[in-house]
Amino acid sequence: MASASRAQFSSKLGFIMAAAGSAVGLGNVWGFPTQAASNGGAVFLLVYLVMVVVLALPMLIAELTIGRYGQANPLRSIASVWPNASKIPLGFGLMGLITALMILSFYSIIAGWLVGYLVSPILDLVGLNSVSHWLETFSTERNLFLAFVFIALTMKVVMKGVTEGIERWSSRLMPLLVGLFVVMIIYIMMQDGAIEGLKMYLVPDFSHFSSDLVVGAMGQAFFSLSLGVTVMIVYGSYLPKDVNIPKTAAQVAAIDTGIAFGAGLLILPAMFVAQKHGVQIYDQAGQLLNSDTLVFTVLPAMFDSMGSTGAIVSVLFFALMLIAALTSSISMLEVPVSCAIEELGQKRSTAVWWIGGLAILLASLIVFNFGSLFGLVITVSTVYLQPLLGLVWAICAGWVWNRAKLLEEIRQGHPDMENSFFWKVWPNYLRYVCPILMGLVFWATI
Ligand code: PHE
Repeated sequence: MASASRAQFSSKLGFIMAAAGSAVGLGNVWGFPTQAASNGGAVFLLVYLVMVVVLALPMLIAELTIGRYGQANPLRSIASVWPNASKIPLGFGLMGLITALMILSFYSIIAGWLVGYLVSPILDLVGLNSVSHWLETFSTERNLFLAFVFIALTMKVVMKGVTEGIERWSSRLMPLLVGLFVVMIIYIMMQDGAIEGLKMYLVPDFSHFSSDLVVGAMGQAFFSLSLGVTVMIVYGSYLPKDVNIPKTAAQVAAIDTGIAFGAGLLILPAMFVAQKHGVQIYDQAGQLLNSDTLVFTVLPAMFDSMGSTGAIVSVLFFALMLIAALTSSISMLEVPVSCAIEELGQKRSTAVWWIGGLAILLASLIVFNFGSLFGLVITVSTVYLQPLLGLVWAICAGWVWNRAKLLEEIRQGHPDMENSFFWKVWPNYLRYVCPILMGLVFWATI
């Protein structure tokens, strides 16, 4: 099954960086703070943290394990744990691929905005003010152009393959992002109004609690950990056999959650600081105004308030964000590309060209029908498809796969595993608790 020449991440750290690179992205810096701000702050944070621990992390371990066992693209890895030759795994696998492409298409539109905010201060500096203004102003043409640029960047990295492209980029830039975050949080905390935001973020007001909030938090946790769409199955397939999967998964989840938490610590106070400077955040009914573009309103307002250093911080911030988005988008593109290479026998470059082209087409479709499609594609893919597909993989690992083989795969990275609490609890947890919990969450919203 495994070919001798199949690529692997070159070290455990390389894998953690790549997997955390996939996990950390717009979901952390755009999705999480936006949802927290629209859903009462601290209550959302609390439910989100619970979702990460009780559902997302166990399922992350399941996806990584399936992938490492399969040592192949997700379609084949999933089939490899299925006892009889059957079309069912193929069907679910394809759904994963399609969902990955759906996510890539809306993701590239938002990431395109980052490209715009990144280059516009530079254009201002050289006197190209009208181009810079165009890049910062919402329009179909701009959205299309920038999404195109972002997908092209993604294609360029994926073209280079696993170690050269994916691993290298992720390891370099993640630490830098964390450092800049810390500096920005300290700055914003010293501004007038920040404490109000901090209170909203950390002191729960349970009147905001609702079943919709729980479903939203669940979707956000799956989105943020790149679950369901088989990204973690592919990354698991590049994982060396001597790696302790549960421990590594926990590290990835901790990094991802830490960065989402930090983003909230920055954005929510920044909202109130911006409000103090006259930027309107809420409408009269107390609803967030333009929640999709909130982060892109609040942060530039903060950078403006920083005077001349603001421009530098702004360029640095958007550059790092762009890279964080890239290390996520490459993982989305890698899913169908790995399938095309191994299942259709295509060259990496051929696969990247046509699948990237398809993503551009999908993104254009959304851009031209922004009002009706943008929110819809996000909701369908992240709130529903990701958790449901995640559940399929949990059932796959918990029920379909031979228990002894599952445990043997886990044991390879950690021979003492048999005596651990994890070993005793996790397989049955996947089997019973995950499906029941998720069923309850969906049931509550109907
Ligand atoms: N986890 C990424 C983020 O938070 C998004 C993502 C979703 C990446 C699905 C891959 C697959 O931005």
